[in-house]
Amino acid sequence: MQVKDISIEYFKKTIPFSKDYLEFVKNQKLNHHETQNNNYDYDEPNKELLDLTLKQLDPFFKEVGIYLGYKKYGLVKAWIQHYEKGHFHDLHTHESIKDFYSFSYIIDCTEDSSHLNLYNPGYPYLSYYAKKIKPEIGLCTLFPCFLPHSVDPNKDNVRLIVSGNIKWQK
Ligand SMILES: [Fe+2]
Repeated sequence: MQVKDISIEYFKKTIPFSKDYLEFVKNQKLNHHETQNNNYDYDEPNKELLDLTLKQLDPFFKEVGIYLGYKKYGLVKAWIQHYEKGHFHDLHTHESIKDFYSFSYIIDCTEDSSHLNLYNPGYPYLSYYAKKIKPEIGLCTLFPCFLPHSVDPNKDNVRLIVSGNIKWQK
């Protein structure tokens, strides 16, 4: 489950989801942006999205938490991103807060969907190596929130993910 091909450990697992969850995610209203469609900037947390996503990913998060030595966690935020052709996500990190992890959960994709690029901490100053994670339906990648990551320009109209942050507690 744990992967060590960049200098920081991250975690991957394929977690199948129900038709109801798929329909729910597909039916959420997203704001259109130049880079990708998303519902990141909402005023009120989308409680239903948080609850349904937690139901899907809780066993995976718990398994990783035990491995990392944490007792519990909270889902801090979740949002949806839909990539049409040419959409992308610039190099970014989510937070620099202790015990924060971020995730990307693939809900829909094709062979032409862009990979998730994970970089070593300090990129682009310290290292050019990227780990490219090929999207697969149901694949969840969980990584420390400070890891630089990006999505190259997409080549289909399908790439759909749920992303978010969790905070571990001892
Ligand atoms: Fe991100």
